[in-house]
Amino acid sequence: MQQQKPLYIRRASQLVTLADSSNAPLRGKAMERLSIIENGSVWVEDGTIRAAGPDEEIAAKYQTRMNEAEVIDASGRLVTPGLVDPHTHLVYAGSRENEFEKRLRGATYMEIMAAGGGIHATTAATREASIEQLISESTRRLDLFLQQGVTTVEAKSGYGLSLEHELKQLEAAKELDRSHVVDVVSTFMGAHAVPAAYRERPEVFVDQVVTEMIPEVARRKLAEFNDVFCERGVFTPEQSRRILEAGKKYGLAPKIHADEIEPYGGAELAAEVGAVSADHLLRASKTGIQAMAEAGVVAVLLPGTAFFLMAEAADGRNMIDAGVPVALSTDCNPGSSPTVSLSLIMNLGCLKMGMTPAEVLTATTINAAHAIRRGHEIGSIEEGKKADLVLYDVPDYRSLQYAYGVNHARTVIKSGCVA
Ligand code: NIG
Ligand code: FE
Repeated sequence: MQQQKPLYIRRASQLVTLADSSNAPLRGKAMERLSIIENGSVWVEDGTIRAAGPDEEIAAKYQTRMNEAEVIDASGRLVTPGLVDPHTHLVYAGSRENEFEKRLRGATYMEIMAAGGGIHATTAATREASIEQLISESTRRLDLFLQQGVTTVEAKSGYGLSLEHELKQLEAAKELDRSHVVDVVSTFMGAHAVPAAYRERPEVFVDQVVTEMIPEVARRKLAEFNDVFCERGVFTPEQSRRILEAGKKYGLAPKIHADEIEPYGGAELAAEVGAVSADHLLRASKTGIQAMAEAGVVAVLLPGTAFFLMAEAADGRNMIDAGVPVALSTDCNPGSSPTVSLSLIMNLGCLKMGMTPAEVLTATTINAAHAIRRGHEIGSIEEGKKADLVLYDVPDYRSLQYAYGVNHARTVIKSGCVA
């Protein structure tokens, strides 16, 4: 293979490094510690960050090798770590505009699901689709993520709801990780809904998830995480506990869709089982939040979902003040958040959840990386980390949240290559 030239990204107006955050997600006041270097430069080799610092330092250190390097002039530009989306339902077929219209006329998300639509509708479309179709529809979404500076996404299964179709979705995610520039991290979510055929005997479906699906997904090494939709009318806290504990026995780390529609003990359960993250949390209880802070569970907040379901967003401000590490995500899915726009999510994080621009940037880089156990590899600009970087058309990080509805990403660098 041809040896890649070193890459020298020179003189960013603001180089947001988020240094010294690889071991644990940032919490409280530390979420505003962006570690910005003005007139900052980065030296990249073999897909890895070799040095980041003030331009004079980098220029002096690599003086003798300057003529080997490809130079990218970042003057007047903001540079951040590649953005990370830690919660998506990336792999699915079809769309649900019909339900959008129903909701605008007054039907609720849960009513539509109880009547056989919602997740069930996308499950039917996804079961019907070939793996090639799933890959092609999802590739389009990944392309759009990348254009906006997102270099890693988590992707959940959960539109198969049977062993065969869950495996198909996870195989599609694996192929996307291989074929697409964006890294795809897989989560098994067989417990996303109780299929209609099991409505009267949900325990039989839970048995299947626990005794058939989890062991097979783990045997094939198709996922790192195991997620469950813990909500009244979907899976109870008891069923959720059983599913998450079963995943742990097979090396799948727990995640949970918790307290989205009503307080249901999801945040408490996340702390009890040692979940890597608890997501949604619009209606999480005070004790649940406290328990998450103590256990160090990352709160993955999804303000786009609240916006799209016309609900009040999670109280991100309060969670940060309570010491919970917070990350943000699109929740990209065809029902409750059909978007890939992490930049809109950033804006909503400020305007609907009371977070500052600095907290929002932490929540979409290093804390998002920790929410998928990648904090040691991505999410900050530090020596030894993967060279995933974004150069923007704006000089100041606050523009990302302020000038909303605009894609500010100009150049995206993935593993040291311009994408
Ligand atoms: O995170 N809440 C459950 N799951 C997804 C929505 C899935 C869908 O409606 O298709 C969510 O919002
Ligand atoms: Fe979700």
